[in-house]
Amino acid sequence: MESATFFSLLAFLSLLFFLIKNRVRSRRLPPGSLGIPIIGQSLELLKAMRADRTEEWLQERARKYGPISKLNIFGTKTVFLTGQAHNKFIYSSDEQTLSTKQPPSVRRLLGERNLFEMSSEDHRRLRGAILSFLKPEALKRYVGKMDQEIRLHLAHHWHHDHEISVMPLMKTLTFNMICTLLFGVERGERRKTLVRLFEEVVDGMLALPINLPFTRLNRSIRARSEAGAIIMALIREKREKLEREEGTPDEQDLILSLLSMRDDGGPLLSDAEIEDNCAAVMIAGHDTTSTLLTFLIKLIAEHPHVYEALLNEQEEIARGKKTGNEPLTWEDLGKMKYTWRIATEALRMYPPVVFSFRQVLRDIQMEGYVIPKGWQVFWAGCMTQLDGSIYPDPYKFDPSRYEDQAAIPPHTFVAFGGGSRLCPGYEFARIETLAMIHYLVTRFTWKLCWEENSISRDPMPVFKQGLPIHIQMKKPLSDNVIL
Ligand SMILES: *[C@@H]1O[C@H](CO)[C@@H](O)[C@H](O)[C@H]1NC(C)=O
Repeated sequence: MESATFFSLLAFLSLLFFLIKNRVRSRRLPPGSLGIPIIGQSLELLKAMRADRTEEWLQERARKYGPISKLNIFGTKTVFLTGQAHNKFIYSSDEQTLSTKQPPSVRRLLGERNLFEMSSEDHRRLRGAILSFLKPEALKRYVGKMDQEIRLHLAHHWHHDHEISVMPLMKTLTFNMICTLLFGVERGERRKTLVRLFEEVVDGMLALPINLPFTRLNRSIRARSEAGAIIMALIREKREKLEREEGTPDEQDLILSLLSMRDDGGPLLSDAEIEDNCAAVMIAGHDTTSTLLTFLIKLIAEHPHVYEALLNEQEEIARGKKTGNEPLTWEDLGKMKYTWRIATEALRMYPPVVFSFRQVLRDIQMEGYVIPKGWQVFWAGCMTQLDGSIYPDPYKFDPSRYEDQAAIPPHTFVAFGGGSRLCPGYEFARIETLAMIHYLVTRFTWKLCWEENSISRDPMPVFKQGLPIHIQMKKPLSDNVIL
C-alpha cells in the first residue's frame, strides 16, 4: 500500500516535472509555427521561390515574427535567422555550436567530403589546398588563359546583328571556364557529358527530399554519381601524367595542383576528397557566376547612366592596348573599379544564393530564446542587403553606394559569405566577370528584347525565357583567336 502511494506520487511528480520542463522549454522557443508534420513550410517556400517571391516571403516572415522564429523546412525543426546581428553570429560561431552540414539531400549531391561539410582540421586543410590554387597570387597567372576562353566563347556564340539568349550562354561560358582552368578537361564529348550531368545535379539541390524513381532528387543523385566517375577517371589520368612528369606549370589545373600536394610524404588529399571538392567547386561556381553575368547584362541595358560610366572605364583600358589582340592583364583588372561596383550592386540586389542551412550542435541561448540541439538553422543572410535602414532606397540600382567602402556596415553585404568560410572562389568570379564585361561593352551593344523577363528561383535565379537580347558588334573580335 505504502509503496503504491509512493510510486504514484513519484509518477505524479515526474509528470509534473515533465510538464513544467516542457512548458518552460516551449515558452522559450522562438515564435512561429512548425506547420503540418513533415511538409511544414517547405512547399510554401518552394512555391515562393518558383514565383520569384523568395525575398518577399522571407521579409514577410521577419515582419510577422521578427528576426528569429521557428518553422519546419524539409521535415526538420528549424529556426529562421536574419539580420545583421545574426549574420555576425553565424560567421563568428564556433564548430562546437553550429555545423555547416547541409540537409541530407544536398549533402548527397555535394559529396560527403566536400569543403562545406568539413570542420576544424579537415576544413582548414582542404580550404588551404583549394585556396592555394584560387588565391589572387595564383590566379594572376591565369588571366591570359581566362581572357582567351572568353574571346573563344564570343567568337563562337556572339554574332553581329543577332538575337541571343543570355542565360544559357553565360552558363556555357562559366562551365567552359571551370572545365579549362579547374579540371583541365578539353572540349569534346566528355565535357558535354559533364555539363549535362551537373545541370541535373544542380536541379535536384533544393528539390523535396524524396528519393523515389522519377523524382528530381533521384535523377540528381544518379547524375552526381556518373559525374563522380568521370572526375575519378580524370584524377587517374592526371596522376599518371604527373608520374610521367609531363605536367608543366603552364598546364596546371585545380586537380593537378591538388594531386601534387604532399604531407609527410603522402598525398595531402585522398582521391575521394579531390572528387567531392571538384564537384562542389563545379556546383558552387557554375551557376553563381553565370547568374551574376546575366543580371549584369540586364541591369546595364536598363541603366544608361551606369552604362556610360562603365563604357568610359573600359574604353580607357582598351585604349591602353597597342593592338586589339593584346590580352587583358592583372593590372588592367585592378583598374576596373567602377565595373566591380556595378557587379557588387547587382549581387546586393540579386544574390545568387539568398539563404543557407546550418545544424545546431548544442543548445543555443539567443535573445531570450533557446535553439535546441539537433535543430536546423535556416539562415537568410542576404536579406540585410535589401534592408532600407542599411542600404537606403534598397530597390534602386546604384553602384555609387560603394564609393566609400568604409560606409558599408559590417556583415550586411554577404553575397560571398564571410568569416572563415568566405567564398574561396571570390577572386575567380571577380576575374571572370570583369574580363567578360570588358569584352562585352567594348565590342558589342545590346538591347533587351522584352521589358518583362520573369524569373524563378530553382534554387538559383533562372530567367524563364533565358533573357533574350539583340546584339550589334561595334568592333570585330581579334582575328587571331585560335578556334
Ligand atoms: C531512386 O529510387 C529508387 C526507389 O526508391 C531507389 O531504389 C534508387 O536507389 C534511387 N536512386 C538513387 C540514385 O538513389
